[in-house]
Amino acid sequence: MAENNQNAGAGNVPPKPKPAAPGAAKPAAPGAPKPAAPVAAKQAAPAAAKPAAAQGGVYKPPVERPDPNPFKDAKVSPVAAWFQERFYVLEPVIAYLKKKEVPKHRLSFWYYFGGLTLFFFMIQVLTGLLLLQYYKPTGSEAFSSFVFIQKEVPFGWLIRQIHAWSANLMVGMAFIHMFSTFFMKSYRKPRELMWVSGFVLLVLSLGFGFTGYLLPWNELAFFATQVGTEVPKVMPGGAILVDILRGGEEVSPETLTRMFSLHVVLLPGLLLLVLTAHLMLVQVLGTSAPIGYKESGMIKGYEKFFPTFLAKDAIGWLLGFGLLVYLSAVFPWEIGVQADPLGSAPVGIKPEWYFWAQFQLLKDFTFEGGELVAIILFTIGAVVWGAVPFLDRKASKEEKSPMFTILGLLVLAFLVINTYRVYAEYSAL
Ligand code: HEM
Repeated sequence: MAENNQNAGAGNVPPKPKPAAPGAAKPAAPGAPKPAAPVAAKQAAPAAAKPAAAQGGVYKPPVERPDPNPFKDAKVSPVAAWFQERFYVLEPVIAYLKKKEVPKHRLSFWYYFGGLTLFFFMIQVLTGLLLLQYYKPTGSEAFSSFVFIQKEVPFGWLIRQIHAWSANLMVGMAFIHMFSTFFMKSYRKPRELMWVSGFVLLVLSLGFGFTGYLLPWNELAFFATQVGTEVPKVMPGGAILVDILRGGEEVSPETLTRMFSLHVVLLPGLLLLVLTAHLMLVQVLGTSAPIGYKESGMIKGYEKFFPTFLAKDAIGWLLGFGLLVYLSAVFPWEIGVQADPLGSAPVGIKPEWYFWAQFQLLKDFTFEGGELVAIILFTIGAVVWGAVPFLDRKASKEEKSPMFTILGLLVLAFLVINTYRVYAEYSAL
């Protein structure tokens, strides 16, 4: 590429004037009028300036490359060579990616969870597209189209079950990935934006779960969405947000349309955008090792990302896929009963498991104004968590930061204990 640029530049620079031969006419004094160009040369100029091929109607770059295909001798298949010739500007990027190495140490196992989250996301996109072929997002047809997918469409049950299980596994993997990168302090300088973009990805993934829950239009989903969309009402101006989410005062078929458009258009678009940034940062900045590992000789070596680490990633993906099919076949999600907006709520309405910790917090704060306090506390907590790389100054100086390790343990304990409390309470119903 650089070679081409050099040539391109050389093509625009006029050749250096040769030293004048002895006895030749002296150059004109500065300021003197320039002598007129010889008439013959002037007439010949327009024809010479036109590239020969342009006259034949075919575009030809004004500057010839010395070798139009510098990769013609590369040892790749003709198809790969064809693409290489066209995408030659990406050569340095590919060469850079090939150089990426992953450190090997006793915590290397945790590096697989980002890739697993990505794998389950790809499964979501694929199965979601297949479901879209039969799903109808209207109050009158949503439930029956779900039953049709489950019972009539060949392998429809499997696709639907995989979509539902993969959603849960994706969120689960994202949580494991987040905590593992937290405890390894992978967010420290210069990886701050990896953490921030990752945090946004988690929020978007939770948004997928929330909006997808209503789509089967069954009783459980209907009333859980009613409870979930009610929450912002306690905040000042929250009623407007509730109205926007629901498309009216109550959960109705309007809400289904909104959730559907968020689920299949807005959230995937945003997630793809942020995911691209996240993965680009991973490639550019490389994989980090925990603080002090390098200095104390705890790194056992490095392995090439391509193909060694990627091949191991693929083994993890195969295992993940096996688990998905197993769970889908052995523990299928129920279809439930069609939602009846006029019916009364059944007992045991609760959100998806990844909202249980917040749900429990709201239930615990039963005093006057408690819900608002819970929301404020939770929002502050989320902002602090998202800003961790900028607060943990010690880690950014490659110093151990036990206070932040304790913070991580407290957050983890809060999530696990509260989630378990909801599980214990509702499984006893
Ligand atoms: C859809 C969700 C996500 C996907 C698909 C994803 C994907 C990945 C992948 C493939 C890697 C490289 C391999 C690895 O180190 O595991 C990575 C690294 C990283 N991710 Fe994520 N991620 C997601 C969510 C998150 C979340 C929620 C956080 C934290 C809030 C996060 C923070 C990081 C950090 C800090 C790294 C760098 C690790 C290092 O340099 O050692 N990611 N992510």
